Amino acid sequence: MSILQEKFDEFARRSKQAEIGGGEARKEKQRKAGKKTARERLNILLDTNSFVETDKFVTHTATDFGMEKNKIVGDGVITGYGKIDGRLVYVFSQDFTVFGGSLSRANANKILKIMDLAMKAGAPVIGLNDSGGARIQEGVASLGGYADIFYQNVMASGVIPQISAILGPCAGGAVYSPAMTDFIMMTKQSSYMFVTGPDVIKTVTNEEVTKEELGGAMTHNSKSGVAHLMADDEDQAMMMLRELIGFVPSNNMEDPPYKPTNDPAEREDESLQEVVPADPNKPYDIKEIIETVSDDNIFFEIMPHYAQNIVVGFGRLNGKTVGYVANQPAFFAGVLDINSSSKAARFVRFCDAFNIPLITLVDVPGFLPGTTQEFGGIIKHGAKLLYAFSEATVPKITLITRKAYGGAYDVMNSKHIGADYNFAYPTAEIAVMGAAGAVNILYRKVTDLEEKAKIVEDYKQKFANPYKAAELGYIDEIIYPKETRKKLIQALEMTKNKNKQNPHKKHGNIPL
Ligand code: HXC
Repeated sequence: MSILQEKFDEFARRSKQAEIGGGEARKEKQRKAGKKTARERLNILLDTNSFVETDKFVTHTATDFGMEKNKIVGDGVITGYGKIDGRLVYVFSQDFTVFGGSLSRANANKILKIMDLAMKAGAPVIGLNDSGGARIQEGVASLGGYADIFYQNVMASGVIPQISAILGPCAGGAVYSPAMTDFIMMTKQSSYMFVTGPDVIKTVTNEEVTKEELGGAMTHNSKSGVAHLMADDEDQAMMMLRELIGFVPSNNMEDPPYKPTNDPAEREDESLQEVVPADPNKPYDIKEIIETVSDDNIFFEIMPHYAQNIVVGFGRLNGKTVGYVANQPAFFAGVLDINSSSKAARFVRFCDAFNIPLITLVDVPGFLPGTTQEFGGIIKHGAKLLYAFSEATVPKITLITRKAYGGAYDVMNSKHIGADYNFAYPTAEIAVMGAAGAVNILYRKVTDLEEKAKIVEDYKQKFANPYKAAELGYIDEIIYPKETRKKLIQALEMTKNKNKQNPHKKHGNIPL
């Protein structure tokens, strides 16, 4: 065999060795838990044969706990770049079969390198997390590795999209880095996020809780609001990540990708005429409007299980990505509360950071009253949404479908806080409060029921409509529901060259 051939063979042998990870037995355990291996996941996520691996031969440098004799090539994380629908993305995929996917110093350096490359190239980073957190054997060296990643997450925030999938039991630092990214995806029954697991909790607080209840996919998608998306399994998770990437630009200097459509921009839809019921107290599903008007009826909802009184997510109008923020009358009458305010505020800020126009659909009876909300700080949480809409400089278009009452009218992207174009349906009711409430305050002394009913009717005639706001120029156009798609597209066209800058500052001070 020639010397050259020997060298090539050694390279092939080493390369194969690096692909073994923690060995067959641990891979089998992984499969039995309904999980794929780190490499399999990348193959599903990325376009066929597009993955290019970096730092394949990195090993850790630890020597305590006999670690010098326990080295696995690649060291528990696969890093590199590839494509999604032909667009460049950087990736890392933690290998749970190698020291539980825990983060060594060497392992952190691999992740930091691709984050740095992604920042320079202006491409998203997708992290597939499956990790027991800091590598215990490495102590503070590992903690330092995490802190370096956290710091880099913050530097990258608002510059490139950062997306995390949680695909196994993630603890400690393995949850804090995802927490700083833009979107977190979890898989049902096989992914967990917690600062520390049930065993430690039992020791410290004597509280007994299952892994699923503490940090499973449903907990973080519906209760804590930590996660944004949930998939039945890993295949679906990877497909949803691909779809999500399709809506967002590669960095903050680009516009979102354009997706041609055969759906006519002028399309009218008669069914929309009847979506908002004649009875203002009857609920309806705002998603019907969003899906009907969007290109090919596609709406990619973010956080569909959390604070369902507000709906947020991506769609396209005439090929262009938009971010929808919509009160949901089908859930708690679409009221604004603590959770819905912070859910929507974070989404608005993502859209603004990445040049995605905002479409706000309003049907809101106001802020939820009561001690639970007040003690929980509805004032500061509601203020987040007001702040986020106000500071956003992307095109902002608002449509009031029905109720826009009180402070919630102001907050929901009103003209006054910078909306570029404000529509209303003829069914809109724009006022300080509902007719019954208003009359009870203004005409407290009137006890005659018949007389009171007359006053309520009079108030409705005067205020429960869009015309007062239109008279003042707060509503630019009143439209028929059936023409919503056409009108939104016109407004987007009209605002496409918008160039608005807020006063220069280090950064604002959003109420946290
Ligand atoms: C080194 C680890 C490890 C870790 C797991 N392993 N976690 N090795 N460092 N942090 C190894 C195990 O020894 C085992 O090795 C293999 O990974 C699989 O682990 P199991 O426990 O058998 O798996 P499972 O039962 O599924 O439990 C997974 C787990 C549990 C829930 C993640 O391993 C766990 O609780 N690990 C510790 C979590 C933790 O407290 N991490 C430190 C957090 S502090 P073998 O050889 O048997 O296959 C932190 C600091 C950051 O991260 C600061 C943030 C602000």
